[in-house]
Formats: sequence, C-alpha cells, structure tokens
Amino acid sequence: SLIKKKFKAYEKHQPLTDRTLAMIFEKASTRTRVSFEAGMYQLGGSVVHLTTGDSQLGRAEPIEDSARVISRMVDLVMIRTFEQTKIERFAAHSRVPVINGLTNEFHPCQILADIFTFIEQRGSIRGKTVAWVGDGNNMANTWLQAAELLDFKVNVSTPSGYEVNDKLPGLSGRISADHYQTFNNPMDACRGADLVTTDVWTSMGYEAENEARRRAFAAWCVNAEMMAVAKPNALFMHCLPAHRGEEVSAEVIDGPQSVVWDEAENRMHVQKALMEYLLLGRLR
Ligand code: CP
Ligand code: NVA
Repeated sequence: SLIKKKFKAYEKHQPLTDRTLAMIFEKASTRTRVSFEAGMYQLGGSVVHLTTGDSQLGRAEPIEDSARVISRMVDLVMIRTFEQTKIERFAAHSRVPVINGLTNEFHPCQILADIFTFIEQRGSIRGKTVAWVGDGNNMANTWLQAAELLDFKVNVSTPSGYEVNDKLPGLSGRISADHYQTFNNPMDACRGADLVTTDVWTSMGYEAENEARRRAFAAWCVNAEMMAVAKPNALFMHCLPAHRGEEVSAEVIDGPQSVVWDEAENRMHVQKALMEYLLLGRLR
C-alpha cells in the first residue's frame, strides 16, 4: 500500500533500476500486460515482451532451453500460458524467479489484487465468506488456495460438469471443509456472503466449448437477486474481461457494490510489490 500511495502522490519509487522483466504471453491479455509493463517502468526497470508468434517459443524450441537462455539475460520472468506444467518446467530451468501470469489452472496475480482490494474496502478477509458463481476454472482454483492460506471460506456453485477439480496438483489434499463448500444453487452460495465473484463462462483455450457452455451456465449469471441474498455490504468482483448479460448483469457490474475497476488498478500495485519482493526480498 506504500507503493500505491507513492504512485498516487506522483512520488518516484525506483528500487528496480537496471532490472529487466521478460513477459511471455501465449494467450491474449490487456490488464496483465499493462499492469506488469507500466509497473516495471515505474519501479525504474524495463520489460521485454514476447509472444508465441514472434519468438522461437512458437517454433518448438524446448521450453527448458528457452528458460535457460531467457533467464541468463533478465532478472524476472512473467509467463501466461496454457498448462501449469509448462510454467513449472520453465521455472525448473530458470535462474531467476518466474511469475505465473495465468495458466489454465491458476491465476495468482489476480487473486493477490482481489484480496488487496477486499482488504482496502472491508479490512481483513480472515473468517469472511466469498461466493464463487460460475466455472470451476483457474480463478476458482486460486481462490481455494488463498482460502486455505488466509483462513476464509469459499462457497462454490458451478453447473454440473464444470466443478472445481479438487484433485488438481496444487489443490489436492489442501482444502478443508472449513474453507470450501459446494452448492448446486448459486443463490445458496451467495447467501450471507461478504463478496460475490464470478468470471467468464468460457476461458481462453476453451473456445470450442462456447455453445455448450452458454447453455449450461444460463442460470449462473450474477444478478441483483443474488446480490440481494448476500450481506448488505457485500462487494462484487470480476477479474475482467466481462460479458454483461452472461456471467453478470450490467446492473451488478456497473452498480454500487462492484469494485471491478479498483480490482484492475490494484493488479499494478500488488505486482509492483511482488516484483520488489522477489528481487529485493522486502515488502512495502
Ligand atoms: N484479469 C486479467 O488477467 O486480464 P487480462 O486477460 O486482460 O490480462
Ligand atoms: N478465466 C479467464 C480469466 C481471464 C483473465 C481465462 O482463463 O480466460
């Protein structure tokens, strides 16, 4: 939060002068790209932006070799890719820290920003209830990891066939009933929640399932009725991009309980803190 205060006051904070971040995108991005890139420049460093299409990554250079080479030239790497195993293979052969900028299975930078936003608005998240409405996807999985670490509860409601895979490496054996409960009806998941959150019905990489998903998810639209059964001061979050009229009604995402723009902005502040922590070992 010191980093955010300084940014708002136009005060320089450049502990990462002469440091370089490589950003590798195998999927599209707006927020992750802008927040890491702007954030690294603000910290005094620079960035290299790579995509599958314009690097040897798209021409079958082994991931291990790419990791060895890239990590000899930069101080930090951020990767957005498909399987979690890909980022893990990269990290295993990297000399420098590797940040997960989203995989099919997890999206930790987003959850850091979401929890920071919750704390800014409402104080500690410990003991609170988060309602997850929609797909059992990378965001849902990461909420569950965070619930275990920070001791809050996640009520999950997904259509059948789209449940969270709690056997996933990174989740299996880690989530207890105190931190995770499933509901068939999304209204029941929202009842009494401190935060209601959702995400797109079709994540990147699953576009072929789009039509089947639209049908399956029709009743999993976060609308005013769902917000009405949550706590009166409940917040609404969405990692964005959003589809109004699908996973959330316009009334909710553009309404007074929604903090989606703060959430997006906070990506930059928390990732600056993360980069400073990874390179200099300190938190601000
Ligand atoms: N929320 C998020 O990660 O957005 P982008 O896909 O635009 O990076
Ligand atoms: N679950 C979404 C999040 C996008 C930021 C996806 O993986 O496409």
